[in-house]
Amino acid sequence: MPATCNVVVLISGSGSNLQALIDSTGTDNPARIRAVISNRADAYGLQRAEAAGIPTRTLDHKQYADRESFDQALIEIIDSYDAELVILAGFMRILSPAFVRHYHGRLLNIHPSLLPKYKGLHTHQRALQANEKEHGCSVHFVTEELDGGPVVLQAVIAIHSSDTPENLAQRIHTQEHRIYPLAMRWFAEGRLQLGQAGVELDGQPLPANGQQLPN
Ligand code: GAR
Repeated sequence: MPATCNVVVLISGSGSNLQALIDSTGTDNPARIRAVISNRADAYGLQRAEAAGIPTRTLDHKQYADRESFDQALIEIIDSYDAELVILAGFMRILSPAFVRHYHGRLLNIHPSLLPKYKGLHTHQRALQANEKEHGCSVHFVTEELDGGPVVLQAVIAIHSSDTPENLAQRIHTQEHRIYPLAMRWFAEGRLQLGQAGVELDGQPLPANGQQLPN
C-alpha cells in the first residue's frame, strides 16, 4: 500500500460532500485530495477547495463538441495529478463508457438513495411517494450502468410522516457526510477493492447492498 493515495474530486455544485472529504483528511489519513475539478465555474465547491488550499480546475462541458471529447479532456487533467482514486461528489454529468473503463475499480460515486432503489434524479420525492419506511444513501463503484455499480457502503434512516423532500434531502446529506469520508479512507488505506466477484473490504466480499453504517 502506498504511504499516501492521490485523490481527485469532481463536483458540479455546492460541494458539501467535498467539504466532508476535506475535513476528514489529516495526518492519520493516507488520502490526499490533489485537485477539485468542476464542469461549472460557479460551483460553490470550488471556493471550498480554494479555502482549503487545494488546486481547482473548471472544465466547461459546453465548450466540447460531444461527451467523448469532454471526457477525454477530463481524463487528461485528472491523470496529470497522478490520481489513484477519482471521487464523484455531486458531479452531475453522465460519464462515457471510455471514461468509466479508464478508472475501473478506482472511481466512486455517492447517490442519495438505497441503491438499487431509486436510481436517477428526485430520489427523495420518489421515496416519499412510494410510502417507503426507510431511505438512505449509497457509495458505489462506478460502472457503465448509471447508478448501477457495486455498492460499498450505505446509511439508512427512517422516513417520518412529516418528512418533505427538502428535509429528507437535508437528513440524507448528513448521512452522506458520514459515509463518503469513510469509503475514501478505506480505499486510501488499501482496504477496499473491486474484485472479480464484487466489492471486497479487507479481502472479504461485502453483501450486495454493501456495508451498512450503524446510526
Ligand atoms: C448529493 O446529495 C449527492 O448524493 C447527489 O448530489 C448531491 C451533491 O451535494 N448526487 C447525485 O444525485 C448523483 N446521482 P453536494 O454538492 O452538497 O455534495
